[in-house]
This record gives sequence, C-alpha cells and structure tokens, in this order.
Amino acid sequence: MENLLSEGIKATPPSFVRSILKAASDPGVISFAGGLPNPVSFPQEALLTSMERIVKTYGSHVFQYSITAGLPELRQYIADRYHRIFGLNLTIDNIIITTGSQQALDLIGKVLLDKGDGVIVEKPTYLAAIQAFSMQQPNFYPVALTEEGMNPEGLEAALQNPVKFVYMIPDFQNPTGLTYSARNRSRLLEILRDHEVVLIEDDPYGELRFEGERLPYIGAGKLPYSILLGTFSKTVTPGMRVGFLISENKELLQKISIAKEVGNLHTNIFAQYLIWDYLKNNDFDMHIAKIKELYRKQAHTMMESMDRYFPPTVKYTRPQGGMFLWVTLPEGASAMSLFPKALEKKVAFVPGDPFYTDIRSANTMRLNYTNADSETIAEGIRRLGDLLREL
Ligand SMILES: Cc1ncc(COP(=O)(O)O)c(C=O)c1O
Repeated sequence: MENLLSEGIKATPPSFVRSILKAASDPGVISFAGGLPNPVSFPQEALLTSMERIVKTYGSHVFQYSITAGLPELRQYIADRYHRIFGLNLTIDNIIITTGSQQALDLIGKVLLDKGDGVIVEKPTYLAAIQAFSMQQPNFYPVALTEEGMNPEGLEAALQNPVKFVYMIPDFQNPTGLTYSARNRSRLLEILRDHEVVLIEDDPYGELRFEGERLPYIGAGKLPYSILLGTFSKTVTPGMRVGFLISENKELLQKISIAKEVGNLHTNIFAQYLIWDYLKNNDFDMHIAKIKELYRKQAHTMMESMDRYFPPTVKYTRPQGGMFLWVTLPEGASAMSLFPKALEKKVAFVPGDPFYTDIRSANTMRLNYTNADSETIAEGIRRLGDLLREL
C-alpha cells in the first residue's frame, strides 16, 4: 500500500486530538482535550425558524448548485460587519465563503506552496494548520510565541529563508490562549512591510473577547498580500461549516477561488442561507455577548481552580478570550507521558507535542474550558492537580 500513497499524505500527521477524543469520550472522563464550543450556545430555536423560513422564501435556491465565492447576501453581511467592528473597507468581492476556516487553510496551502517552500508558524501553533500545510511538504520555520505575541527578532531571522507565507493567530491563540500586544502587532507589521510574503491572520476567536480591549489586525487592510480568516463555527455553530476568507488582493482571491472550485465547487448553500437568515433576523451581538459571559465564567473557574490545586512550579496562561489556556510543566517533564496517567484519573488534555513542528515530549499541554460546566471544570482540575503534585 505504501507505494500507492502520495508523498503529501505520508508527510501529514493524523490529528492527535481526533484520535484521543475517543479515549477521552469515555463516560466518567472529564475532557479538556477537545476544542468544542459549548452546545448550550447554539441558537437552535432561532435556527429552526430560519430553516423553515429559507425553504419557504427561497424555495429551490437553497437546494440548488450555487456560485463558488458564496452567497452574495452573506458576503455583504460580513463586509458590513467587518467595516463596523474592525474598520475594514470591503466589498463582497473581497470575500470568499469557505467550508469552515479549515478549508481556507487547505486552499492557501494548495495555492501558495510547492514542496520545500518555507512557511513561518508560531511555536506552538494550531495543529490542524500544521496538518493542512503538511500536505504540500513545506519547510516549517517556527518562531517563538512570547506573552507579547510572535517574537519579532525571530520573525526577521526566519524571513531570511525563502518563505511563501507567515501564519498567525493573533487573538486568543490556539493552543496558548495568548493575544498579541498592540506594540508587538505594529512591530510585526513594520517587519512584514519589508518582505514579499503573504500574511495569514487566522481569527476564529476574535469576537469572543471577554476581557480587555479589541486590538487592530496586523496586516488586514494594510499589507498588499494579506489574508484574514473568519468563521461562524465559534459564534453560531461549527457543524454548519461556514467560514470566510477576506483579502484585498484580487490575484490571490482569484487563485483561491480556482482551488475552491476544484475542492468542492462551493460551500453548502443551505448552510449559507441558514446562517445569513439567522444573522439578519436575530440580535447577533447580543448572542455573542451571552457566549462571552459563559466563557468568561468557565475560564475563570478553570484559572481559580488551577490557582488552588496546581503546584506553584506549574505555570499557565490567563486568556482574555477564546476557548483555551496553555499549561507549562517544570523543565524536563513530558505532558505526553502524563497523558495515560491522567486518563487513569479520568481526566484528559492535549499534550503539547502536536502543536509543534519541531519538538517532541514537550512540557506543555492545552486545556479547553468551554465544553464543561463550572463544577466539572473544578473537579477535573482537582484531579489534574493531584497528578501534577505526584510529579
Ligand atoms: C486557529 C483555528 N483555525 C481554524 C479552525 C477551524 O475552524 P472551522 O470550524 O471554521 O473550520 C480552528 C478550529 O478550532 C482554529 O482553532
């Protein structure tokens, strides 16, 4: 069989998260491993109403083939929202609807990368972005992520290599929960202005800020080769698989659109109508405010429980939004070896390894706080604390 497989698929690791989710889904296991939004945040009643309304109003259009770039009305909604909230001047031609941001990552890899091309990523970064880009067998240049964001000197050094694009998650980063500071963003922008590279800002969590002030995008609206990714996965529902890609670069958009035609012709049009109708007929800002309040409470429960149950040698980030926080164990400890012991204690997390392109047996782990109630979070952290004290 090996002979029949492409080099691309052989170079792509399986998703560690998906493989451990099975173990972690045993009843009784408290799982901080997944990346699932809290299902209580899905606006199910309103979506049911929208479902009926779109079928009645638009008839066969919601079931027919459609255009690759996506439903114009939904793209207009996104253009207006991004103008109002982020000050970006967009038309619908700057926006392609994608089947989740994950598809955007796949398309970008296909459009920009040949084998051996350079890609700059944060260290650590979103594991499914590593997977998506790996299909094209690039060379990864990981740059350290500090409390302030991507390390500017590291970025400058990495840009000395032949690099096609830089991939960043500046707000409530997956996996660390860190947010790039204002100073860091302007420094990174200055550096990127001097290089012919594409900047990808992946922003699935930006709307979920439960503390602090919103900060400007780094490259969107400023750099000639900028791509901004967004999604309704964390604010409406992930199962609909509706995300979007924004760029002001016509050539990039055109090539990405061709790749999307090849990939899936267009994103599920029923889902696009559904999301658009929902947005148009409901108070989306109020819905988001509720999710933020929910996640703020859950994040605080997790941090307070860690303050209480974790030994002082274990450090962790304090996210201002999003869905994750990042734990650093003492030097030399391996979160991967801890994982089976944690399962014995009926608690699960994601060890740091799959979030790096160049590290094994990392002393870090990712914890998700959005998919469990406060009591469960406190109990899970207590179990993890017991294990960490035994270290
Ligand atoms: C950083 C990042 N990018 C992209 C995605 C994919 O999101 P979507 O559901 O829109 O495909 C996720 C999902 O967890 C993510 O954390």
